[in-house]
Amino acid sequence: MQAIDDKDLGTPARLSRNPVTLEVDGRAVTVQAETSVLRAASLAGVMIPKLCASDSLQAFGSCRLCLVEIEGRGGFPASCTTPVEPGMKVHTRTEKLTRLRRGVMELYMSDHPLDPFECKAGGKCELHEMARVVGLEQVRYQPQGRNHLALSTDDSNPYFSFDPSRCILCSRCVRACEEIQGTFALTIEGRGFDSLMSPGQHQQFIDSECVSCGACVQACPTDALMEKSLLGRGLADRAIVTTCGYCGVGCSFKAELRGDEVVRMLPNKDGLPNHGHSCVKGRFAWGYATHPDRVVKPMIRKRISDPWQEVSWDEALKYAASEFKRVQQKYGRGAVGGISSSRCTNEEAYLVQKLVRAAFGNNNVDTCARVCHSPTGYGLKTAFGTPAGTQDFDSVNQSDVIMVIGANPTEGHPVFAAIMKRRLREGAKLIVADPRQIELVRMPHIAADYFLQLTPGTNVALLNALAHTVVSEGLANEKFVTERCDQREYQIWRDFIVGKQNSPEVAETITGVPTEKIRGAARLYAKGPNSAIYYGLGVTEHSQGTTAVLAMANLAMITGNLGRAGVGVNPLRGQNNVQGANDVGSFPHELTGYRHLSDPRLRAEFEREWHAKLDGEPGLRIPNMFDAALDGSFKGLYIEGEDLAQSDPNSQHVVAALAAMEIVVVQDIFLNETSKYAHVFLPGSSFLEKNGTFTNAERRISRVRKVLPPLAGKEDWQVTCELACALGYPMKYGHPSEIMDEMARLTPIFAGVSYEKLGRLGSIQWPCNESAPEGTRVMHVGDFVRGKGRFLLTAYVATDERTSARYPLILTTGRILTQYNVGTQTRRTKNVAWHGEDRLEIHPHDAEQRGIRDGDWIELASRAGAATLRAAISERVQPGVVYTTFHHPQSAANVVTTENSDWATNCPEYKVTAVQVNPTSRRPERLPAGQLPQSWRQSAS
Ligand code: SF4
Ligand code: SF4
Ligand code: SF4
Ligand code: FES
Repeated sequence: MQAIDDKDLGTPARLSRNPVTLEVDGRAVTVQAETSVLRAASLAGVMIPKLCASDSLQAFGSCRLCLVEIEGRGGFPASCTTPVEPGMKVHTRTEKLTRLRRGVMELYMSDHPLDPFECKAGGKCELHEMARVVGLEQVRYQPQGRNHLALSTDDSNPYFSFDPSRCILCSRCVRACEEIQGTFALTIEGRGFDSLMSPGQHQQFIDSECVSCGACVQACPTDALMEKSLLGRGLADRAIVTTCGYCGVGCSFKAELRGDEVVRMLPNKDGLPNHGHSCVKGRFAWGYATHPDRVVKPMIRKRISDPWQEVSWDEALKYAASEFKRVQQKYGRGAVGGISSSRCTNEEAYLVQKLVRAAFGNNNVDTCARVCHSPTGYGLKTAFGTPAGTQDFDSVNQSDVIMVIGANPTEGHPVFAAIMKRRLREGAKLIVADPRQIELVRMPHIAADYFLQLTPGTNVALLNALAHTVVSEGLANEKFVTERCDQREYQIWRDFIVGKQNSPEVAETITGVPTEKIRGAARLYAKGPNSAIYYGLGVTEHSQGTTAVLAMANLAMITGNLGRAGVGVNPLRGQNNVQGANDVGSFPHELTGYRHLSDPRLRAEFEREWHAKLDGEPGLRIPNMFDAALDGSFKGLYIEGEDLAQSDPNSQHVVAALAAMEIVVVQDIFLNETSKYAHVFLPGSSFLEKNGTFTNAERRISRVRKVLPPLAGKEDWQVTCELACALGYPMKYGHPSEIMDEMARLTPIFAGVSYEKLGRLGSIQWPCNESAPEGTRVMHVGDFVRGKGRFLLTAYVATDERTSARYPLILTTGRILTQYNVGTQTRRTKNVAWHGEDRLEIHPHDAEQRGIRDGDWIELASRAGAATLRAAISERVQPGVVYTTFHHPQSAANVVTTENSDWATNCPEYKVTAVQVNPTSRRPERLPAGQLPQSWRQSAS
């Protein structure tokens, strides 16, 4: 069922530029060539009854309800499959048509519950509506004769049900699954009367290939496929447009409400990142927002071994402020700091760094992007001048070659993956570089042209070899390089890249990827003509993360794949607001818009606006804060929305550092692993409970709107303001729009952004300023932001993390579709039906050597520590490599990751850890507060 206020024009828009004028029931209308008569009629304000057609699906022409008469033509063509022609005269309301449509509807209704009150869609069922529209008053055939009314319902999916007795076999669900989602999970089985819509081969939804994106549910015109959240609650009476709080795709949703209760999250057809599509998390996994585990009262305790005490907001904030002040008096101004989260809004992250700089008086502020995409910021800014992706998502529709490196879009960025898959089905070529065989490598109607299955930690060697091939085989785009890039640096780089050490032959010995595959992939990418790179944490979370980002920038420049649609270098950001948290000055050395705070004129601007004196020395990064805490010089931390103890590497080091601090303030929606080490807990607000903005991976700023009142009474930005006030620094705003206005005043890339404009345009991609008043879809058109593009040397340096006889396997990590990061939210939803625990994927050969069977408990041990989880035997990983997700604290996967990090940004090297795997009788244990778990054993080797 569509949204309560969405209009469906019947068939998709056509991109043709040739206008065609026709007449529908005497009304002249001009549309693009190839548009259907059904859509043209809708645009002319004439509603033709329809059932199998929808403007988000290609026309199918099966229901025969949209029949029309066309002057000069015989018969009654289906308007959804008939294209317009110049001068056509269409009639939609003749006597004959009415009779025919009634006949069609009578047949449908004869095999369908007749009483509209029985309809679970509560009066919004298109079938019942069409019966009314065609004036069907009675059905002559029911209940005699064969029918489907006794078929039983498939309730296996946690979020929606399928009642085949309500199915009219319109195939909208099947087409939605194929065309929109690209999963091909549904079929219409059988023939004639025995036809049935079915997931897979007579399977239940939960056992099928279905990934629960909900596109079929949204497409269904009856109550056959129906969200369970609507059952018993009824349909919404209003909707509020907001932005998904999960991943960096930043899908736009209509939160539908009945009274004060959210009944459904429906992807917004006008949402530019998602065009009405979504994944299982955004559409269905929002129940955590009202989960009974939510903490809604502030709490304090003197020691972390004490029980929590609920207190008033006033008392909690005063206590936190007095402790921060005490610590600063005793240990110095720099003994405290703050960490913001990419889960929070731009406005909230901005306020955290403002509090640290203006109220704490130092620059000890960092954000969780430190542990994911900081190399992206550093690398892309150095090469091109802007620390962000170059394209909008829709750009991929014009790509001829798509290279996916170190990313798993179908799991991590599913809605963008759906767009990418559609482009691949249309014929774009695909190169995948990954240690693990991700789903994209081979799936229905898609097969990678090159799968470069490299050894973890060798991205730079592979990227250099690709560039080497391009240059040495004369495939470089010399014109682009001459016009757009710094020539001196290019010549130095050219001499470097053609060196033997970067040849595919040498790369094969490092990466394990055969020379011919490297050459073939390089040729394919270079010849494009439009080639785009999409990458993820499999590139950045390495000791050479920044080098790899620079190597991709080199590759894109040498082939001229920048500055237009269909090309570019594009990070797939993990969390909803990684881009935004970086943009708004969350790093210790930068103010908003990525400007170094050592510039006195810049600081003076902020000092005037903030009425505070700013320190010109960069502060501590997250890992430096932990080191300083263990040294005894860093004693207090304000953490907004981040579970450091679970998400940061080498967890035992992290918790030892937290335990060494005298005041840890955690602001979050649930108690988490980090809050076990906290002295003050300030209840946070979920994305449904606040106003603000998120910025997605395509630099798109979108509004987050308050749908429900905050359970704890305050939005997160208000809490930060009140903490600043309690610290003696007045920070007052009436609404987050005022915070955005302040950011716009202080930040050239946001200069033209305001809530008013966001409301008008829906969303804005920065830079948005005088020269780009409506934002910027594609960066670096004509010139790079920094002027000339920079080629930088990217010598491959092997990571210090080496396998040994004791730790012979390499562990790499990733995500799964149904869970999100450390699982704080998704583990509190029905998504656990799909992924109730983290498992370790191990190749059958390695498993056999160790006597491990599928599902056995294993101990995963590294030089940093050990974790316990179950094995999943899989050929997705190559021998010598194991893989796990990190969504569950019980498995404590980050316990084993080391402290190695990117040379430029300290981004941890999550993706390469030498490990051993052995069967164990041990079971995972909960982490006790204030002490290190017994199972964490430091190793000497
Ligand atoms: S929920 Fe999505 S994946 Fe599952 S059958 Fe429907 S459209 Fe296909
Ligand atoms: S389940 Fe709904 S969308 Fe699918 S064929 Fe049946 S009526 Fe059509
Ligand atoms: S793709 Fe990402 S932003 Fe979109 S619905 Fe899923 S989790 Fe939310
Ligand atoms: S809407 Fe045209 S045939 Fe069904």
